[in-house]
Amino acid sequence: MKRTFRICLVITLILLFVYLLVIVDYGEFTSPLPIIYSNQCHISDWNHVETHSISPSFRNAMSRHLWMTLDLSREVSNLHSTLSISHFQGSQNYTQLSLIGAYVYPKYISITINSQSMVKQSVYCRYFDCKRNELVGSEWKGVIFPESVVHCPRRKGAEFVSVTEEMRDEPPTPMKLKYRIYERPVHNLSICVAAFYGNEPKWIQIAEFIEHHKMEGATFFYFHIGHISSYDRRILDEYQNSGDIEVKVLQEKYERPFYAWQLIEIQDCHMRSKYHSKWTAFIDIDERIHTTEKNKTFIDILNELDGTNVSEIKMPHVKVVKNGETPPKYENSEQIKREIFTRKYTKTAPPAWFASKAVIRPDRIGIMSIHEVIALEPGYKSIEMDSEKLTFRHYKDTLHRVSGNDWAQNETISDNPISSEYTDLLAKKVIEKVKFVYEKVPANCSTIPVYMTSSRYFPDPCDKMLLTW
Ligand SMILES: *[C@@H]1O[C@H](CO)[C@@H](O)[C@H](O)[C@H]1NC(C)=O
Ligand SMILES: *[C@@H]1O[C@H](CO)[C@@H](O)[C@H](O)[C@H]1NC(C)=O
Ligand SMILES: *[C@@H]1O[C@H](CO)[C@@H](O)[C@H](O)[C@H]1NC(C)=O
Ligand SMILES: *[C@@H]1O[C@H](CO)[C@@H](O)[C@H](O)[C@H]1NC(C)=O
Ligand SMILES: *[C@@H]1O[C@H](CO)[C@@H](O)[C@H](O)[C@H]1NC(C)=O
Ligand SMILES: *[C@@H]1O[C@H](CO)[C@@H](O)[C@H](O)[C@H]1NC(C)=O
Repeated sequence: MKRTFRICLVITLILLFVYLLVIVDYGEFTSPLPIIYSNQCHISDWNHVETHSISPSFRNAMSRHLWMTLDLSREVSNLHSTLSISHFQGSQNYTQLSLIGAYVYPKYISITINSQSMVKQSVYCRYFDCKRNELVGSEWKGVIFPESVVHCPRRKGAEFVSVTEEMRDEPPTPMKLKYRIYERPVHNLSICVAAFYGNEPKWIQIAEFIEHHKMEGATFFYFHIGHISSYDRRILDEYQNSGDIEVKVLQEKYERPFYAWQLIEIQDCHMRSKYHSKWTAFIDIDERIHTTEKNKTFIDILNELDGTNVSEIKMPHVKVVKNGETPPKYENSEQIKREIFTRKYTKTAPPAWFASKAVIRPDRIGIMSIHEVIALEPGYKSIEMDSEKLTFRHYKDTLHRVSGNDWAQNETISDNPISSEYTDLLAKKVIEKVKFVYEKVPANCSTIPVYMTSSRYFPDPCDKMLLTW
């Protein structure tokens, strides 16, 4: 009897300890002051929600605590475990806090920030109404986890948010919350494209990438821009106009290595796609997901996983020798038929798991990284996709690669073209798009009333073509 009592006491104490550990850690003791609302803002139905926690359940809070204890979100040290963590602790710690994105979900809010070295540090979520006036008394002490992400509870009427290190700090410009409270995801398959940098022409790849993945069932694309030429930007603008893509421009006063931006892009895109897309792939513009079974697209394969707990699919990596130059400008449709990567480059290495990429259910993932999930929410699992069914082709440069052009030297290279039935159809779709964007028809001056060109001092298209052409 005494023994049972003692065991019970010990168990109770342990549970109490764990409870306090988790609860205190998440600052679930909210400010006791009532939030002060001005009555200048109309509060929409969806915004009457107030939450007191960022974890949907005790189990989720527990696993989050465990991930933090295990230090699962130290990006650079994760990737280079041989280097000591302290080596990276101060990585660009002189940058001011600024916001990359802010998303409102049914139960909480996520904010992505530009930090690269603040993981596990306490910060304050700050909330603002429609007029960007702070909701006095609403701030909440949270923590940066994973790296570059802060989860905050919901506040009634909050339309803008910001993050500060101290409760009374002047907040960086509050950002408008992006609406992500959908009954069901708007898209079933979307793609996060790694941030754009460098000078390689991208216009043909952008069109090919989007048209190809649409054929595999993707309906939305998230782009992050570090640098892009104005010529390449035109095709991107076209897809943005048609609602196929969302473009986030990464502007910041602090310069940093491109690689740091890729890490931030992954975190931002994970939050951006959560509750907006059921499945999200994280790949680069020089990569393509290909299904290999006849008449079966990637979305068909994903739909077969409905009702299971699979939340990450790892895709085998097929390196394709990219040993040619990408054309800088559109010429004609023959050029497109010849130049689309899917037709031009067909020499591949065998499928491998090194540097594979993943497709995830963003709402079920705790920590994402470039190549794979670091932490799944409890109850979900990860699978490896059979290379007979699906591969992801990576057009790996052998001429201009920043990190080594000799990668194919010791690989067994063989010719693995994609069927011409497929590449013909793809070329047709790409041509239609790029023609619309890049082919210009000179003004027929015999049809233009003189008044149109003489009444304003704008360049006269009958005199010479506009500079933008
Ligand atoms: C930044 O990191 C360096 C190196 O770890 C450290 O010496 C310095 O105090 C840090 N500065 C700030 C502002 O945290
Ligand atoms: C997503 O899948 C559901 C269920 O299969 C379907 O009803 C819906 O139309 C799909 N949405 C899109 C955007 O394709
Ligand atoms: C694929 O679809 C086409 C057209 O819908 C059909 O003619 C063909 O038989 C299908 N092939 C297979 C293997 O199902
Ligand atoms: C998925 O996980 C939940 C709990 O995490 C479990 O109740 C359910 O049975 C699982 N479903 C399948 C199909 O494995
Ligand atoms: C290929 O193998 C040779 C001989 O083992 C080695 O010297 C060379 O570094 C390898 N190349 C690459 C790119 O791994
Ligand atoms: C310009 O317009 C006139 C009048 O409509 C037409 O006759 C002529 O063929 C056009 N020229 C060109 C080059 O399209």
